[in-house]
Amino acid sequence: MRDILAPESARWRAFTAVFADVVESAGYQLIIPPLMEDLGVFSRIGEATDVVTKEMYDFFDKGDRHVALRPEQTASVCRAFVQHRPVTPWKAWYSGPNFRYEKPQRGRYRQFDQVGIEVLGVNDAHLDVEVIALGSEFFRRLGLRQVELRINSLGEPADRARYVDALRTHFEAGGEDLSAASRDTLTKNPLRVLDSKRVSDAPYIATAPTIDQFWSDDAAAHFHTVQAGLSQLDISFVIDMKLVRGLDYYRHTTFEFVGGTLESAQNALGGGGRYDGLVEDLGGPTTPGIGFALGVDRTLLACDDEGVFAAPDPSVDVFVVDTAGGASALAITAELRAAGISADRSYDNRSMKAQMKGANRSGAAFAVIVGTDEIDAGTVTLKPLRSGGEQSIVPMAHLVSDLRSRLQEANS
Ligand code: HAM
Repeated sequence: MRDILAPESARWRAFTAVFADVVESAGYQLIIPPLMEDLGVFSRIGEATDVVTKEMYDFFDKGDRHVALRPEQTASVCRAFVQHRPVTPWKAWYSGPNFRYEKPQRGRYRQFDQVGIEVLGVNDAHLDVEVIALGSEFFRRLGLRQVELRINSLGEPADRARYVDALRTHFEAGGEDLSAASRDTLTKNPLRVLDSKRVSDAPYIATAPTIDQFWSDDAAAHFHTVQAGLSQLDISFVIDMKLVRGLDYYRHTTFEFVGGTLESAQNALGGGGRYDGLVEDLGGPTTPGIGFALGVDRTLLACDDEGVFAAPDPSVDVFVVDTAGGASALAITAELRAAGISADRSYDNRSMKAQMKGANRSGAAFAVIVGTDEIDAGTVTLKPLRSGGEQSIVPMAHLVSDLRSRLQEANS
């Protein structure tokens, strides 16, 4: 678990702001689920997944309730839906930390942030297209170019069950040739064997049956509409029949956004899909659902690699230098901030030279300088710091309006 300090922290905030902008423009509203829930909420993610069996931060609280820190937010959003029964379609977005006890490495952490959206109550394949398109649009807004969209369909639950049986038969035929880890995975969830990167498994994965052979007509038609919609919006994608995702609640459309610059074990910037049975599993009515989550940490690493989405400039507009004891700086910074002009100052009655050093370090566009002469005359000295122009004397009463027009000029 890491601290995120400035300037990186400002970048995180800007990241969430861009995401909010993209999804709120499509009618999604913020939900803030709790960080901790009853363990049962998260078990629905899949009893056969690593996330549930190995990575959960679960414990008994002082009331002897078995609780867990959330490993993701889809299950919480569905639990909230069951509890509050909002009007459908319910379009929600979220951001915030999640916890998984994974082996930490670049792009994989035990506390990591996600931004994501979920929609409950709509079956229409055009919604799948909207959800995927919003993810693509967000990456475009960040400036990322090397993101590949991979899509697949896991079909109806019955299609998926027949596929799982076929995979089991196929991999069991591999016998001892299959890696020990994959033999173990096979007993729990044959789909996950497709994720194996081990050399000994590769020939069996290459020849494994593919899900399209098991799609019902409805599932095939749904997936076809998704592809047609993406093409209509000029969103390029590759169909990856081996894309099964790490959580068990998916059916029909699944997708991942893969970063071209990251190592393959951590290159999924985000992913999602349909989970039409999850609300029911949590005790609610039959309700279709779809969404995605993007890893903030990982996506910012991809931004670093591509040299895009730099940290915003942390500079203040004005730095107040007060050589007459500091009381004027107290009043002037308060007045400027109240007027919407960002302002900082130094403390401890430091020398003029030290305060000017602070002013330059702050990145401010202007220094407002006050000493006893200025106080007596009811003026301040205004010194441009970035442009290197001439300093001028300004009446204190005009400071705010004067600075406003100068800042506007400097920023235009
Ligand atoms: P997920 O694939 O488990 O899906 O996670 C989504 C993204 O979160 C990943 O692609 C990755 O960028 C990031 N992520 C996951 N684990 C870590 C980690 N340990 N460290 C850093 N980043 C990580 C879900 O969580 C689903 N809830 C997505 C979804 C929403 N499906 C439907 N709706």
